[in-house]
Amino acid sequence: MREKIKIVRTQKSLRAQITAWRLNGETIAFVPTMGALHSGHMSLVNLANKKADRTVASIFVNPTQFAPDEDFDAYPRTEKNDVDQLQAEGCDLVYIPRKGSMYNAHHATHIKVGGVAEGLETDHRPSFFEGVALVVTKLLNRVAPDIAIFGEKDYQQLATIRRLVEDLDMPIKILGAKIARDKYGLALSSRNKYFDSEGLDIARQLNVIMRDCANALKGGADINRTTKICARDLLDAGFSEVDYVSVADTNSLEILQGRISQGRISQVRVSKDNSVQGKARLLIAAHCAGVRLIDNCAI
Ligand code: PAF
Repeated sequence: MREKIKIVRTQKSLRAQITAWRLNGETIAFVPTMGALHSGHMSLVNLANKKADRTVASIFVNPTQFAPDEDFDAYPRTEKNDVDQLQAEGCDLVYIPRKGSMYNAHHATHIKVGGVAEGLETDHRPSFFEGVALVVTKLLNRVAPDIAIFGEKDYQQLATIRRLVEDLDMPIKILGAKIARDKYGLALSSRNKYFDSEGLDIARQLNVIMRDCANALKGGADINRTTKICARDLLDAGFSEVDYVSVADTNSLEILQGRISQGRISQVRVSKDNSVQGKARLLIAAHCAGVRLIDNCAI
């Protein structure tokens, strides 16, 4: 029979269990989450199970990555259901830090990642990655895993965490997991819970329009023109606002212009050193029925 998942709420008991596993020679994979878990998160847990002897997840709705006008208070909190799903997926331990135990009253340290964390999301959510970098650093320090897994849906977040971990010499391998989608192709997200059926119908157009745009770009269409058409198509489909439709270098996330040939940049690109000829990624953020959605795909 599968072992019962351990629910741990303090750093002390977390550290005791991690140490016991380490002394036993076991490796640890970590899946940080903000709860409101769905099958996308379970695919991360599943990957973690394959990559290490023990899987640890965390649930913490991190206040520092929400802007004052965002949905921190309304963010779905479904602890019992989350724990049940983690148990069913074979997660060994879930760390749910007690309210107030993540940031003490004297907290004064901030982490600002440059490069990949600049532009795109940061143009619209200026302090988002500072909040993510801080909480991820704290969680990685507390859990001290061998591997940590993040979804590719938050593509810029994944790139930011890779940069952070490399720059701060954390001995942790960061793995990206493929985007999980519903049967209509909508990327799974905890915020999809906010949609009524009309909103959901509109939201499900995002991946269709994104793929059309990616196909046109693959065929060599001009980036500037094609991304503008994509933004207009989103508005025509019922999206209320488009934050960006951008093409970026897969690794550096530098914004690209010109045309793409066989997944490579063949023409002009906006780049500081113009050195890497990387593959390209299409990234989109748009609002629909009061919800902000992001999605991305390879070109
Ligand atoms: O992607 C998320 O759910 C969050 O940004 C993360 C990485 C758990 C940090 O709060």
